[in-house]
Amino acid sequence: MKVLGIESSCDECAAAVVEDGTTILSNVVATQIPFHEVYNGVVPEIASRMHTEWISGVVKTALSDAGCRPGDIDAVAATAQPGLLGSLLVGLSFGKAFAYSLDKPFIAVDHMLAHLYAPMLSEKVDYPFLGLLVSGGHSIICRVDDFDAITVLGTTIDDAVGEAFDKVSKFYGFGYPGGVYIDRLAKGGDSNAFKFPLPNLHKGEHRYDVSYSGLKTAVINQIEQFRQTDAQGNPAAISPENIAASFQKTAIDILLRSLYRAVEDTGLRTVVAGGGVAANSYLRQCLADRKDLRCLFPPLNLCGDNGAMVAGLGYKYLARGDRSPWTVTASARVRAFKRRYP
Ligand code: KG4
Ligand code: ZN
Repeated sequence: MKVLGIESSCDECAAAVVEDGTTILSNVVATQIPFHEVYNGVVPEIASRMHTEWISGVVKTALSDAGCRPGDIDAVAATAQPGLLGSLLVGLSFGKAFAYSLDKPFIAVDHMLAHLYAPMLSEKVDYPFLGLLVSGGHSIICRVDDFDAITVLGTTIDDAVGEAFDKVSKFYGFGYPGGVYIDRLAKGGDSNAFKFPLPNLHKGEHRYDVSYSGLKTAVINQIEQFRQTDAQGNPAAISPENIAASFQKTAIDILLRSLYRAVEDTGLRTVVAGGGVAANSYLRQCLADRKDLRCLFPPLNLCGDNGAMVAGLGYKYLARGDRSPWTVTASARVRAFKRRYP
């Protein structure tokens, strides 16, 4: 079964054709980053207008790269939530119209579940396992019982982890998207140059939660204080590389601390990561070093937003006989997740 997957929740206009939920026949990602970079963040109106301009060309390229004509597609899947509403509506409406015109089934999928499916395009994983969903909008530690059944154990109580990377990067002018630039700079820095506090979240219902607003403020204030007190100037210590490495270490350690608590408490020893921050090299290294855990990451080209993960997840619903109604609509927020504690 060939599924066309469409993704337009943020600033990537993407489409892919995936066969039987695992074989990627094409994967086209048209990034809008250069258009948002000058504003140091995604401008929602620009994003939705660009999706409107690009979507038909992106889908056409995905079909031709896969060697398919529209009639060869068995079903269409598109991201319906969460994300920027105007952007979501473009891909969702295009996908629905495309499927309707071909008289083929349509499936609306959740973006975060699609990120979680990305590593499963290439590897088989038995349920249940722990999911680590980390992107610009979300930081979720969850128990995963099936492709559509997750229970959120912990989440952020303020900023998402990717958002913290983006905000720190914006403050220091490192570049957008922040995670990419900070990860790169951190490779040449000392991660112990600055010590930032970890949030005090270890009890009760916040046991698996994370928080980033304190770290973001500390990175900005502590370094400014350091600049002022170190009147002689110590360029090595306050280098962009040292700021990036020290921030990155703390930001990822915050995530890992909560994740490892969930590992201990649930006894689940398989961790599947997804989302843009899953590309982070320090996070990947730390989890690779935990030889007692099986950790799966998407390949780097499938960490960010893409259509292949949408098509792959769509296939799982279709194989179960599900169809979305033609009335299905987009939602800026996550609608379906339960929050429960083990
Ligand atoms: O999943 P994604 O492409 O879009 C959303 O759904 O949000 O994630 C984008 C986020 C941005 O915040 C970006 O700074 C972050 O992922 N990111 C990274 C890295 N690459 C992208 N964060 C840390 N390290 C990276 N290497
Ligand atoms: Zn995403």
